[in-house]
This record gives sequence, C-alpha cells and structure tokens, in this order.
Amino acid sequence: MKTDRLLDEIKSKVDIVEFISDYVPLKKSGQNYKGLCPFHSEKTPSFMVSQSKQIFHCFGCGAGGDLISFLMKHDNLTFGEAIRYIAKKAGINLKDFKFDKNNTSEKREKLIQANEEAIKFYSRNLADSETAKTYLKKRGIAEESILSFRIGYANDERDGLFRHMKKMGYSDSLIKDAGLIVADGRGYRDLFRKRIIFPIYNLQNDAIAFGGRVTDDSLPKYINSPETGVFKKSESLFAISLSKEAIRKKGLAIIVEGYLDAIICHQYGFKNTVAPLGTALTPMHLRRLKLVARKVILIFDADEAGIAAARRSLSTLAELDFRSKVMLLPRGEDPDSFLRKHGNKTFKKMLAEAMSMVEFLLKTSKGDKIDNVRETLGIISAMQDLIIADEMLNELSDRSKINEAVLREELKKIKKNLKLSSHAIEMKPVGTQINREECILLSAIISFPEKADDVLSRLVIEDLTDANIRSILRKIEAVKDNLNISTLLEKADEKERALITELSFNPGFDPEHVEKNINDCLNILRQRKFEEKRKIAEEYGDISLLDSLLKEKRRLIKKER
Ligand code: GTP
Ligand code: MN
Repeated sequence: MKTDRLLDEIKSKVDIVEFISDYVPLKKSGQNYKGLCPFHSEKTPSFMVSQSKQIFHCFGCGAGGDLISFLMKHDNLTFGEAIRYIAKKAGINLKDFKFDKNNTSEKREKLIQANEEAIKFYSRNLADSETAKTYLKKRGIAEESILSFRIGYANDERDGLFRHMKKMGYSDSLIKDAGLIVADGRGYRDLFRKRIIFPIYNLQNDAIAFGGRVTDDSLPKYINSPETGVFKKSESLFAISLSKEAIRKKGLAIIVEGYLDAIICHQYGFKNTVAPLGTALTPMHLRRLKLVARKVILIFDADEAGIAAARRSLSTLAELDFRSKVMLLPRGEDPDSFLRKHGNKTFKKMLAEAMSMVEFLLKTSKGDKIDNVRETLGIISAMQDLIIADEMLNELSDRSKINEAVLREELKKIKKNLKLSSHAIEMKPVGTQINREECILLSAIISFPEKADDVLSRLVIEDLTDANIRSILRKIEAVKDNLNISTLLEKADEKERALITELSFNPGFDPEHVEKNINDCLNILRQRKFEEKRKIAEEYGDISLLDSLLKEKRRLIKKER
C-alpha cells in the first residue's frame, strides 16, 4: 500500500512534540511533555505527549492518538487531508505517492486543483481587462492586495472558463463538481460572468471556492460558489489563510462583514482580519478560528441591523469561550469606507477602545436595565471557561451596580436550568472502570508487543467482558506479526485509541515483572470464567458439566505447576 510508505515518511520526518507545540504550549515533564488540552477546557494540564512513542493522551477527556489523529481531531480533517497537510509542512512531495486510504481525499485534491487552475485563468483575465482594473482602482484596492488575495476577473462571456478547463484536461463532471459551471438549456455555462473574483481559501491554504462581485449596480451584487466537496459556506471565513499567522501572533482576530472590508483592512495593516461569507457567525466558523485565536473584535455598523447581528454573534462567541469585543462604526460606514476616509491611525484607536462584550450588551439593548443584566448573565452562563466568565461577571456587577454575590447566585440558577435541559455528557478518564485484569493484559501487549502472540494464544478474546478491549485485541491479532503502537492506532477508532494511548502513558503494571503480571491476570480471568460456569452448572444441577469443569481445573493446575 502506497499510503503506508507516505505514513512512514511522515513519521520519520515529523516529530509529534514539535508539531503539537505549534498548537499547544508544551512543557517537559519527566520523560513526557505536558500542556493544556486543546480538546476540552481545563486549568491544570492533563494533556501528555510522548516523544519516544510519538503519541498523545489527555487524562482529562480521554482523547488520544498519534500525530495524524491529533491533527484530524484538532482541525476537523479527514485522514487524507491531515496527511496531506503534514506532508506539505514537512516538505514531502505528495506527487510521489498515490492515496489509497480513501478516495474522497483524492477527489478533494482534484477539486482544489481545479480551483487553482481557475484562479490562474481569472487572474490572467484581470490583467487583460480595463473594466476590471479600473473598478478595483476606484475601490482603492492596491496592486499588492490583488496579488496577495489573488483577485481575478471573470469576463463577460458564456463559457470561457469551461472551455479553458477542458483544454487543460479537466472532465465536465469535475468542473461541474467544483461549482465552476452551471447547466442551462444549452449545456454548461460559467457560473461567474462579468464579475470581480475573490478566491476563498481554507485554513490549510487550499483554494476551496470563489466569491464574485459585479462591477456595476446590477444584481445580485455578490454570488458565491455552491457548496462542493471542499466548500461549506457556513464554515468558511474569507481571508483566513492570509490572516492566520497574524491572528496567531496577536491571539486576536478582527471579524468584519464583507470581502472588500477584509481586503481593505489587510491593506491598511490589519492583517488579522477575516469575514464570513455574507452569513452570521456560526459555531463552525468559530471552531476553525479557535485554532488560532482566543480573542475577537467584531466590527459592525452602528445601525439596528449591525447591532442585532453583533448581539447574535456574541452568544455564539461566548459558547466557544472567546473573549470578545465590539467596535461600532458610524452609521452607514463599513471598515472599507471608514479606513479609506479616516486612515489607519483613527481605526487603530477605535479598535483599542472597542467595547467589551458586557459593555456592548448593556449599552445597546433596548430593554430595561434588569432585562439587559439578565440577558448578559444568560450569555455568560454559556461559557465553559470559568475564569473568563468570572471576569465578565465582575464587570457586569461594576457596570450595573448590582451586587456581585447576587449576580453569582442568579448565574448558578441559570446554569442549573441549563444542565437539566441539556444532555451534557460527562467526560471520564477511560481505563478507570473497566475490568482490571483485561486492561493489564492489553496494556502488557501494548508495552511489550513481542508478547502479543503468547498472550493471545492463552486467551479467548470472546470471553472478555469489555467490548472495547475485545475489539482492540482482535485488531492486534490481525497485525500480530507487525505490531507497534503506530500501526495499531491507525486501525483503531476514537474510543479504542483513547484506551491505547492511556495505557501507553500509564501501563498500570510493573514492567519489571511483566511475565508474572500476565500470568496472574490470565489465571484470574480463567478462574472467573470457571466460577461462572460452575455457578450455572450448579444452578441447573448439571452433574456432568460440573464433573468436566473439575477435571479441567485439575488439568490446568497441573499445567501451571
Ligand atoms: P461592497 O458593496 O462591494 O463594499 O461590498 P461589502 O463587502 O461592503 O458588501 P455588503 O456590506 O453589502 O455585504 C457584506 C457581505 O455580504 C458581502 O461581502 C457578501 O459576502 C455578502 N453579500 C452582500 N450582498 C450579497 C448578495 O447579493 N448575495 C450574496 N450571496 N451575498 C451578498
Ligand atoms: Mn462595502
């Protein structure tokens, strides 16, 4: 399998500690590294990374796996996307490998390639179009922004892109699946015609879609690519790939409403700016953003629609533990028009003076003070991070002059009601309540893969009580000759991975006496099985079964001696 060769290459070139350090600050702790878990919110580190084993495990929420499963979980990627991203980062040429793990990643690859080809096509059109260049100049968009955002132009023609793509060897169905063309009565025509083209990228810098704006007053003003195998509108943020470094550095993202706003913000030096694609902020947007930022500033027009949109976004932001601020622009202005009128000094000053979430909620609400306070408490109650919530509660008390203890009581009440109404699953560390002996046997195999053969031959997998352990052991049986944590983790599902990595960090037996531990556990399991059978035999008065059980027991005892 060629994917295996790529995996080996990745694993030999990329170190898990270095890789994860880009996402989670890690500190050396004994043989391992420790940090705050990115998969659940916690104040003391229970997220461990092992350099020698190249795995991670969180003792708080049970998440665990190798480099690839870390990235899949962290960035919500498929297996193929994750290895592609890691390979890119490690400078491994993917052309040398063919993906065979799943063909959806191959399809994604092709869609992205098609989009890349379209970007080049639209860019050349722009260079040749006076209309388009004049329009961009009028909008104050610098040459530099055209290049960095790879802005292009779709000519006023029926199927220029379609014909070009076919000439480049793309099939009709792929061009269609990329959302670049639409069917009409006469066959296919280009989706974007006579529009300025803004390519949309994901966090991994793949071209996933386009937005297109007319250069005059015709309608609709904007159209977007349809949803495709690589594009979901409600998850995508314009300019995220260009912004992510600046966002990461500052820990802060500026969120504006429109394409042009984002471009002009970048041009004026605010390189940590992104924009949703004409939709409200969704939890999926924010999950993506959370990978690089903890703080956001929302910029809205101070009109009613702007204020309403900001309020909606704030509750979504709170649920995801963002520390958010709101900056309101004078009515009728957007960041684009404002920056070009007043310059970046004024803008910077306004950003610095942006309202905290509490301040904004209290100042812009139309209800009375008590309603506002209650609404704000409701939003605070959605936060998982108690420290940020507490800071906001302080501020709410200061600003509303309502006693903090009273607010705290009220918050408790709201939370209690929330708990009753939600089906929150409590996270427990995994290995703690499962069968101890079964667990140790699995653990011994994980720590000493060379013992797998022996242990498995002395054990009936179907007799074990824990389904998770049974299924891991079956997978071990399947790769017995070539067993190591890394191959096992690839075959394991999420729950299995959690147990495997937990036991890798915390084997739960004395490795100096592994033989004795294995024997003891096998004996206990055998005895337990025997007792079960005996009980049944007695209950049914099955003398012959009892007899054979006793004989078997004697035989076993003899053998053990
Ligand atoms: P300009 O008018 O070019 O300055 O654009 P803008 O970015 O200021 O747009 P506006 O404030 O009108 O809208 C904000 C965002 O909403 C745009 O960037 C688009 O993403 C989206 N949007 C606006 N109009 C339309 C439309 O007619 N159709 C769609 N699908 N989206 C739109
Ligand atoms: Mn605008």
